[in-house]
This record gives sequence, C-alpha cells and structure tokens, in this order.
Amino acid sequence: MKKSIKVFAPATVGNSKCGFDVLGFAVHEPGDVVTLSLLEEPKIEIVVIGNDHIPTQPDKNTCGVAAGKFLDRVAPDRGVKILLDKKMPVGSGLGSSAAGAAATLYGLNILFDNPCSDEQLLEFGLAAEAAACGAGHADNIAPSLFGGFILIQSYEPLKIKKISAPQNLYCTIVHPDVEIKTAAARKLLPGEIPLKTAVKQMGYLAGFIASLYTEDFELMKNSLQDVLAEPRRSQLIPLFDKALVSIFECGGLGGGISGSGPSLFALSVGQETAAKIAATWKNLYQKIGCQVYVSKINDQGPKIMG
Ligand code: HSE
Repeated sequence: MKKSIKVFAPATVGNSKCGFDVLGFAVHEPGDVVTLSLLEEPKIEIVVIGNDHIPTQPDKNTCGVAAGKFLDRVAPDRGVKILLDKKMPVGSGLGSSAAGAAATLYGLNILFDNPCSDEQLLEFGLAAEAAACGAGHADNIAPSLFGGFILIQSYEPLKIKKISAPQNLYCTIVHPDVEIKTAAARKLLPGEIPLKTAVKQMGYLAGFIASLYTEDFELMKNSLQDVLAEPRRSQLIPLFDKALVSIFECGGLGGGISGSGPSLFALSVGQETAAKIAATWKNLYQKIGCQVYVSKINDQGPKIMG
C-alpha cells in the first residue's frame, strides 16, 4: 500500500454567473497542491507553505476537516500528515478553501484503495466547505473534485450532474489584489427573493445549461446573467463595471463575479479572445495589482503529481 501521494486540485468558478450555489466549473490554473503522508496513529498534522494566514488546526482547516471526515469513516485508527502548498490566493472567489479539501480527499481515497464513492467524497468536502464559509455550498468543491461544469441538481439529498464543456470554450480569470470573505459576501444577499426575480434567473440558468449541451454560443451569451447575487456583490469589486464592459468589447460571451469575488471570470470561444480579455484586465487592474489566468475548462479535476 502506497504511504504518500502528491495531488493537484484546481481552482473553480462558483455560481458561473447564472447558477447561484448550483453551478460551478473547474479551470487548469491556479490550483493547490497537497502532499499526504499516512500516519499509524489517529492524528492529523497540517503544514502550510505559501500562506501564513491559513490555520493549521485540523478543525479550522478545510483539508483537516475533510481528512477528519474521511478517516472517521474509513480508518479511525489511522492519521495523516498534510503538507498544503497554497498556490492560490485565499478569499479570492476561486474556490481556494475547496481546492485543498478536494486534493486531500482525492489523495486519501487513492491511498486507501478507493473505499469511498464520489458521493461520499463530496459529502466530506461539503462538510469542509461548511466549516470554512459558514454554508455548505457545493459549487466549488464538486467541480474541484470531478472537473468540468457541475450542476448541483439537489442539496437534500445531494445530487450532482457533470456536464463537459464545449472543446473551444475558454475562461479568463482576473484576481484583483483585494480579499473578500465568502461568509461576508453571503451576508449581503437577501433571505428571500421576489417571484419575478426567481423566474428570470431560472430562465438564465436553464438557457445556459442548454447552451452547454447544444454548443449554442448565442444562447450562452444571452444566458450569462445574474439578477440574484451580482447586483449586491458587485459594489465590493473595484472597477467591476469597466471590467464587465471590456469582456464584450473584446468579443467574449460574458462573465461576472467568480464565486463570491473579488475574482472575475469571462467565457470566450477560442483562446485568442480569452487572451485579449486577459491583456485588457491586466491593464485595467495594473494599479491595484492582479493575477490573470487563461485556461480551457478543466474536465479532469484533480491529478496525481507524485
Ligand atoms: N456559491 C458561493 C457563493 C460560491 O456565491 O457564495 C463561493 O465561492
């Protein structure tokens, strides 16, 4: 039995603009790398490199919570040492808390010879997200674990559907150098929404899902809309309106806030348009400071690095 493993798990774009808490997708970069070494005694040790602010107590760290849930179920007398190489910013809206947990769960399942189903891994990951964000939303952890676009069809019981993206669909991401905590961004949202707003959003989400299956990019463009979260959250993001307009000026299909922000994403047909948006955003956020990424949709999810 292998005693240690190194796993990469990808960043994700939660909500994908039109599917608040029920739609997310994975990209190829950035992402987190986790090295797991099994221990003979029941304890979880966490070491973090690349970020001084991430807690290392197992119950306050998403990798630790995920590992705890897994080990309780599979091997209560064993433990694990987790080396988390934090390669992506926290509080970025890129599913930073989920990527480490996804890498941990994927790696542990391999080390123990795949005792857990995808549904169980997701259940453990969701518990880790609940510990980090105060709400167990699956639109980051599920695509980080399984790749592609993931539709969360139901939370109770938890049911998901993976949808592979059109081959020539590209994503541009900008992460402006400001931090927004998901828990704080969730507090901005209303507890209830008017029926008219719900009807609008249902149409956008259904249209977007249809566009993924049919590769109807005009439908995708018209469906990339959010009347639920974006009107309340966009105020937190510097230069939001300018960044959004520039997507269309460059020929992109649309985009908006990635997860709870401050990162923004855009979807485009072809790499050239995606790179044009990246260059425009880099310029726009030059004074604030930013990181920019261009990637195809990541259909694979986690991968073994060693
Ligand atoms: N669906 C979550 C939210 C994603 O919008 O709060 C957080 O990354």
